[in-house]
Amino acid sequence: MDLGLKGKIIIVTGGSKGIGSGIVSVLSEEGAIPVIVGRDKDTILSTVNKYRERNYQVGYAFAELTDPKQCERAVKKIIDDFEKIDGLVNNAGVNDGVGLEKGTYEDFLNSINKNIAHYYKMAQLVLPELKKNKGAIVNIGSKVSVTGQGGTSGYAAACGGRNTLTREWAVELIPYSIRVNSVIVAECYTPLYKKWIESFEDPKEKLVSITNKIPLDKRMTTIEEIANTVAFLISEKSSHTTGQLIYVDGGYTHLDRAIF
Ligand SMILES: NC(=O)c1ccc[n+]([C@@H]2O[C@H](COP(=O)([O-])OP(=O)(O)OC[C@H]3O[C@@H](n4cnc5c(N)ncnc54)[C@H](O)[C@@H]3O)[C@@H](O)[C@H]2O)c1
Repeated sequence: MDLGLKGKIIIVTGGSKGIGSGIVSVLSEEGAIPVIVGRDKDTILSTVNKYRERNYQVGYAFAELTDPKQCERAVKKIIDDFEKIDGLVNNAGVNDGVGLEKGTYEDFLNSINKNIAHYYKMAQLVLPELKKNKGAIVNIGSKVSVTGQGGTSGYAAACGGRNTLTREWAVELIPYSIRVNSVIVAECYTPLYKKWIESFEDPKEKLVSITNKIPLDKRMTTIEEIANTVAFLISEKSSHTTGQLIYVDGGYTHLDRAIF
């Protein structure tokens, strides 16, 4: 299926690693011009060069997304470079383990900044461009928003916010025909996930115990599987889908695991 993404300028926050890098890869294959926004300068530049060598166009702008001024500069650079923006994938975030019993109020607020405030800021900054192009937004979310995890209040609150903002923006942006959807991730092996699993005493055993509970094929979701759904939702092929939370998780969140 041709998703009709040729030449579309799509911002992907945190697009040089993990799930974001998978999204950039699939968007490139579809002929879009993904634009990475993130802080990881070396990885971003090497990613962009890797694509250039293969004659794919990938843009970039550096920003520590918790700083609204850097978000503003990044979006301005992208408009200067490409003269339009057709889509936004809010993806960057971190499960930073700020719990209720052991966390602090300051760390909780920092977690909100790391995980949801820039979703809002970036959406607000690109809105004038999306209005011109009937663009689309995809927010990457987490199963933690509906299952909880324990010991991660800030991230859980932010992920709940990602879900509700998806619905809220879908309603607010209806007059402009801008669609807003969310792809919810459960277990996907990325640099962030690797760091988390290594925090357990026996990471290998923990990984096996998790994958054994994933109903479909007893394996983790790949970054490509997440990215394929994101590409579909950001494209015109999903032209009548808005305000939806799509779980790409092998049935992990909702299927009755007692059966499998
Ligand atoms: N990996 C999983 O299993 C999983 C599960 C549920 C949800 N998610 C969500 O998926 C998204 C991506 O996760 P991932 O596992 O690919 O992470 P990752 O750490 O592997 O990659 C994230 C990228 O975003 C960048 N980034 C993060 N915060 C940033 C900031 N404040 N400013 C600039 N750049 C920033 C990082 O530098 C990195 O390049 C996150 O929002 C996370 O909540 C992941």
